[in-house]
Order: sequence, then C-alpha cells, then structure tokens
Amino acid sequence: MDNREETTEIIRPEAVAASRFPESPNPAEARTVTTAMAAIAVEVRGLSYTFPDGTVALQDVSFSVAEKEKVAIIGPNGAGKSTLLLLLNGLLRGQGLVKISGLEVCRRNVKAIRSKTGLVFQNPDDQLFMPTVLDDVAFGLCLPSEDRDGQRRQVVEKVKSKLKELRAEHLINRSTMRLSPGEKKKVALAGVLITEPEILLLDEPTSGLDPASRRWLEDYLKGLERTLIMTTHDLELARKVAQRIVLLSRGQLVAEGGPEDILDDQELLEGGGL
Ligand SMILES: Nc1ncnc2c1ncn2[C@@H]1O[C@H](COP(=O)(O)OP(=O)(O)OP(=O)(O)O)[C@@H](O)[C@H]1O
Ligand SMILES: [Mg+2]
Repeated sequence: MDNREETTEIIRPEAVAASRFPESPNPAEARTVTTAMAAIAVEVRGLSYTFPDGTVALQDVSFSVAEKEKVAIIGPNGAGKSTLLLLLNGLLRGQGLVKISGLEVCRRNVKAIRSKTGLVFQNPDDQLFMPTVLDDVAFGLCLPSEDRDGQRRQVVEKVKSKLKELRAEHLINRSTMRLSPGEKKKVALAGVLITEPEILLLDEPTSGLDPASRRWLEDYLKGLERTLIMTTHDLELARKVAQRIVLLSRGQLVAEGGPEDILDDQELLEGGGL
C-alpha cells in the first residue's frame, strides 16, 4: 500500500478537524459496530508502517485492548509510539490489521472510527487550529454562532467547566497561537476530553503540564470508565493509571504486562532503551 497520501493527511488542518468531529456513522456502519460489539475495544495484528522517506516506524506489532482497559505505551524516543496512535485513529494507514470496536480501520470506516476515538496529539500545534481557545475547545460540540434557545451559552459553560478542571479557564478568549506550550497542551486535552470519546488516545498527555494539572489529569484518567491508550515517558503516570504496559523499542513490541512486571524490571527497561 502506498502510504504517501495518508502521510500528507496528518498536516492538513481539515484532517485534524475531521479526527475531532463526532460524526455519526451511517446506519450500515452503525449496525456493523453494534454487531461486532465485543470485549475487545482495540485489536492490532501484524501492524507495520514505513514513512514515505523509507523510515521504518513500526514492524509487525500485535496487541489488543479490552473495553475500558487502560494501557500505557512506553519506549524511547523514536520507538514508534506516536505513529501507532495515528494508525489507530486512521490518520495513517499501514500494513496489517487494526480494528476499533470490531471495525477495521480503513477509508470506508474512518468516520465511524473517529466518532469513537479521541486523539490528543503529542504536539498541540498539530491539533489546535481554531483562532480562539473557546472555538477550539468547543469545536467537537459545534458551538452555535448565535444563542438560540440558550444553546450557545450551554456549550460555552461546558467549555468553561472543562477548562476550569485543567486550571485554564482564564485562557478562554485567548488566541490559540499565542499560548505557552503547556497552555496549548491543556487546551488540546480539553478539546478532546469534552467530547467524552469511547476510546481515548493520548500522546504524552502530561508533557508540559504543571504539577497541579498533572495530578488532576492523573486522577481523571484513573477514574475514567473508558478505554484509554496513552503513550508516555512519565513512568509514574503509567504505574498509577495503566492496568497494562506495552513496551515498544525501534518499532517493535518487546514486552507487555502488568505495571509491576514491566516497570520494576530494570533490565527489561534498559534493554528496551529506557
Ligand atoms: N513524518 C515522518 N517522516 C519520516 N519519519 C518519521 C516521521 N515522523 C516520525 N518519523 C520517524 O518514525 C519513527 C517513530 O517516530 P514516532 O514519532 O512514532 O516515535 P515516538 O516513539 O513517538 O518518539 P517520542 O518519544 O520522541 O515521541 C522515528 O524514527 C521517527 O524519526
Ligand atoms: Mg511520540
């Protein structure tokens, strides 16, 4: 399969917007989702991905994630963690099989897949595209331009409340382009968490966050009754939130297991490049 076209998709703002827009699947797709509803939320079999310049990012990766399970993907820089999340959400397409709630990730199913998954990018600059924080966080909820029947006010209140949880309420009228990196990360997180997707895909969710916001996010993710796949270099976050750890190194899955099995095995971590 030629990956070139899919790779260019990453940097198109409308692709990012599409990945955040909670579109309903068409009835035929919805039926498939319901029929295929099983204990497995995410299934990855023999997944490989090579960038158009020849860089091999993932090689023959297989794992699955149960519904409402929380999994942390760890591994050194360049291990393929972010690439894996882009493949799960359909922004990239590789060789092998990826299924989300029984639906194969392919062009035909991409709308349904994106209605189920919420992806927070590692770099918020890849994610934020609306002029103001309010517009950006409200994007997935469709902020009405006029306040007919108080609908706009309701959405604004939801945005305020989500930003408040992340200690970012004061940013609501600011330009998304003129925020600090940590502030941008908070806004990017708020924009995805507010849509309450069934499956959360978080790429380095705590990077750039101050300690209080990091603690809030940790508690929030711990209490979340949803499927969560997050990549992280924050091994304490992984230990506290994840029920299972997947260790990637040089594009390959080198180990998976419970937090203690992986995170307390210094030899394994060092062998995996951490
Ligand atoms: N657009 C691209 N074109 C070519 N190679 C890329 C591109 N994006 C990433 N890569 C390469 O793919 C590999 C996996 O990158 P990826 O971003 O998935 O790693 P990562 O595990 O998320 O790293 P980090 O911990 O630094 O976030 C790396 O070798 C990286 O250099
Ligand atoms: Mg990454």
